[in-house]
Amino acid sequence: MSLSLSPDEPAVPNDATDGVWLECIDCSETFAPFEDVRYTCDACDGLLEVRYADLPTFDDFEGRGVWRYADALPLESGVTTQEGATPLYEVPRLEDDLGLEAVRIKHEGMNPTGSFKDRGMTVGVAVAKELGVDRLACASTGNTSAALAAYGSRGGMQTLVLLPAGKVAAGKVAQASLHGARILEVDGNFDACLDIVQELAAEGEAYLLNSLNPFRLEGQKTIGLEILEAFRDDYGTFPDRIVLPVGNAGNTAALYKAFRELLQAGAIDREDVPKLTGVQAAGAAPMVEAVENGSDEVRRWDDVETRATAIRIGNPVNAPKALPGIRETEGTAIAVSDEEITEAQRDLAGEGVGVEPASAASVAGLRKLRAEGIVTEDERVACLTTGHLLKDPDAAAAAGDDPEPVPATTEGVLEHLTGESRPGR
Ligand code: F0G
Repeated sequence: MSLSLSPDEPAVPNDATDGVWLECIDCSETFAPFEDVRYTCDACDGLLEVRYADLPTFDDFEGRGVWRYADALPLESGVTTQEGATPLYEVPRLEDDLGLEAVRIKHEGMNPTGSFKDRGMTVGVAVAKELGVDRLACASTGNTSAALAAYGSRGGMQTLVLLPAGKVAAGKVAQASLHGARILEVDGNFDACLDIVQELAAEGEAYLLNSLNPFRLEGQKTIGLEILEAFRDDYGTFPDRIVLPVGNAGNTAALYKAFRELLQAGAIDREDVPKLTGVQAAGAAPMVEAVENGSDEVRRWDDVETRATAIRIGNPVNAPKALPGIRETEGTAIAVSDEEITEAQRDLAGEGVGVEPASAASVAGLRKLRAEGIVTEDERVACLTTGHLLKDPDAAAAAGDDPEPVPATTEGVLEHLTGESRPGR
């Protein structure tokens, strides 16, 4: 397996720039990082990874947010709106209910545009500047388009986003629109949007900032670095497991890369590596299918459907990077129903943590794995919640109780309060 937890020391190729280069995960071909626009390997079309001659340990990190980890990133600074440094919430009732040693919620919805995508964009848009491109593009289920629009406008670049028509939550379209993206609504699903935008990028129409772009995943690595640092500070040890929602499997790939690099730097030991555990919606679960079948190939699902529109994805492009991560860390993957997702969204909301449906998938998956005994009571677990509740106000309103109309008098309100019980309870 090329992406193993015990990689060989990298030989620094001649095309490295300041100790940074791109390398194909399949054929190991190397490329200079910032000279030409390139998303996949010229030789075999495999996925590319950013590689470093020197990898940092925890002692090398300073400051706050994504750029605290500059020594683990391809550039020293980015186009920033102070992303990262997101909260790691305690959820005591959920922890009790699940019967686990510790459960923490890493709430990525607390990033500037309300999702983890900001971590990828602060790096990806900076690389776009370095490359000198003037138009950025992505396909998106919504959050990537919001982040691209915000960071693109901050960087002074044009942005173009392709969205599956009628399948993107209201908050996300509003963000992309106000931040000035040109929004194309495609009569097809996310995977069709990604096919088209990849072709546009190949024709030089725009610089692609989906997670196929290896630089984006470098920024997203910092989620893993923050979780590990926080657990070490709070518990004196690292989490046993990290549970996360999976769409294109970019975060799964990015977290695995963070662990491999820390291992290679000698900052952690093999037994410190958390079990990467992916959760998909049952109506869009090709990664779960591959993990269950023990297969290296992920079958593309043409028909996908779920209330968790952010992860309504049938062709997870980062699977070749993410599947080894799940296997090597002895993690797993599980599918959850839309009802289980909504239930988990309510559980989190009941502890004051507001997340969008896709985010709640992590908690729904943890509950299911705990019930099946795959997650054991002695485990310390971090769940990733990837986007904020306000991203999808319609889903939140549907999951919560309806407002109750009352007359405009104190008497009428009192009468209402003492009268019928609360609807829906
Ligand atoms: N959670 C949320 C809220 C997302 O928006 C996404 C992906 C994921 C999870 C899945 O993450 O791809 O790293 O496995 N959203 C992309 C978008 C596809 O266009 O906003 P992944």
